[in-house]
Amino acid sequence: MQRKDIPLTQRRGDIAILAFFLINILFITYVVDIEQLIIPDPTHFTYPIWPPPTAVDAIHWWGHTFDPALIARPVWWKVTIWIDALFFGPFYVVAIYAYLKSKEWIRIPSIIYASVMLTNVTVILGEEMFGAHATPNLPVVLLANLPWLLFPIYIIYRMWRSSHPFTQTITQSDLRAAEPNMQASRAAVGKIKPRPTAVSFFDKYGPWAVVAGASAGLGAEYATQLAAKGLNLVLIARRADLVDRLAERLKTEYPIQVRTLSIDLAQADAASLIATQTRDIEIGMLVYDAALSAVGPFFAQPLETHLREIDTNCRTPLMLAYLLGQRRASRQRGGIVLMSSLSATQGTPLISNYAATKAYNLVLAEGLWDELREQGVDVTACCAGSTDTPNYRASTPAKNFTSVMAPSSVVAETLAALGRNPSVVPGRSNRLAAFVMRRLLSRRLAVTVMGRTLRGMYS
Ligand SMILES: NC(=O)c1ccc[n+]([C@@H]2O[C@H](COP(=O)([O-])OP(=O)(O)OC[C@H]3O[C@@H](n4cnc5c(N)ncnc54)[C@H](OP(=O)(O)O)[C@@H]3O)[C@@H](O)[C@H]2O)c1
Repeated sequence: MQRKDIPLTQRRGDIAILAFFLINILFITYVVDIEQLIIPDPTHFTYPIWPPPTAVDAIHWWGHTFDPALIARPVWWKVTIWIDALFFGPFYVVAIYAYLKSKEWIRIPSIIYASVMLTNVTVILGEEMFGAHATPNLPVVLLANLPWLLFPIYIIYRMWRSSHPFTQTITQSDLRAAEPNMQASRAAVGKIKPRPTAVSFFDKYGPWAVVAGASAGLGAEYATQLAAKGLNLVLIARRADLVDRLAERLKTEYPIQVRTLSIDLAQADAASLIATQTRDIEIGMLVYDAALSAVGPFFAQPLETHLREIDTNCRTPLMLAYLLGQRRASRQRGGIVLMSSLSATQGTPLISNYAATKAYNLVLAEGLWDELREQGVDVTACCAGSTDTPNYRASTPAKNFTSVMAPSSVVAETLAALGRNPSVVPGRSNRLAAFVMRRLLSRRLAVTVMGRTLRGMYS
């Protein structure tokens, strides 16, 4: 699979990491560290050639005022300084080059560096709090050390999350976008007249999109953002009055055609009905948004509700992806968005069956992402966190422990991820929560944490 670099300007997190590496190499590793290695006793010393006297004075002032361990320089402290000078210094130089030039071999060294840095800083802070040279000004020392705690955590998160942190797959649409240039160069050589083939969102995913579950919340937002991109829409939900009203609004705001279908997506024949009623139009995109989410103890719900959840959340999206996708196979383009959830990556008490149906969508989308991209079809699952929709509000959580996102941001991030990633977690704090739950905690602990969170929200 061919890959292309993601420009540094689109990797804002990496710009921050680069600034962190630069600050370390310019002010810490070969200034503060050198002072500590060549001046064993800060009360009796002569100024060395390096670092400059002002830097030496500043380091000593900091030590005397806030940080007694820095003045006492016990053996364990010196070990951390030697690690910094011998390993971290050269690492920063190589890493700055690698991050700037998108060299992905720096991924594992970055994880090792960040883990050792995190260990060092944890040892230092432990000593600062409880050791023989505990600081009398803990809040100031904690604050000063915070970047050396947060950046390593972020670097581990960033490098662990993806095996290709600096590049992305070259998709069929990239190749199509490159086609005019290739044609132009062929034309220059062979005098062939170039044919303009700019690929827009509409070309990739149009002319028609089906949004299943479009009357409210995220589904209505998908419909609005797809309409703004010029796609004609088939809007599906049970509440015909709501989808009809949305259709009228979108037709007045955008030059598009809109059809509405009032169908219960839990019905066994829902997907075949939709396939039949859209036989005359070319569907490039499917957004499956509808879901049944029954909140409460497992046995408090009738078995029928659990089965209905499976029909609405698993059976019908599978059938629609299959039936509409088959028609698309010859087109060599198209898109599928399946709505999953942050609850999909571990068991989630009080919504156990719902979370399991969302896991189904996530895994289905990931598999299809790889399988269908050869056919030019982009697939992604949206693992949304709490989102401010009528359904979310109706579930009346007593408390919320995470930030609640606006539907417009969730949808914009998901559509931007289409063609890039098999799944997307919209929102920074959701991404951090997902990283902790998936990568740092054991599954057992993750389930326990989710249980506490859900009980706090709904009990
Ligand atoms: N909101 C959140 O916090 C959150 C978090 C994570 C994931 N998600 C996921 O995001 C998606 C959208 O959630 P949401 O909060 O916007 O609202 P929602 O109420 O779950 O569903 C939104 C749409 O689905 C339609 N729908 C539901 N069941 C249907 C059925 N049996 N047949 C036809 N249409 C049906 C609803 O229309 P009608 O009622 O008119 O039929 C509505 O238009 C869901 O898949 C959900 O699991 C949401």
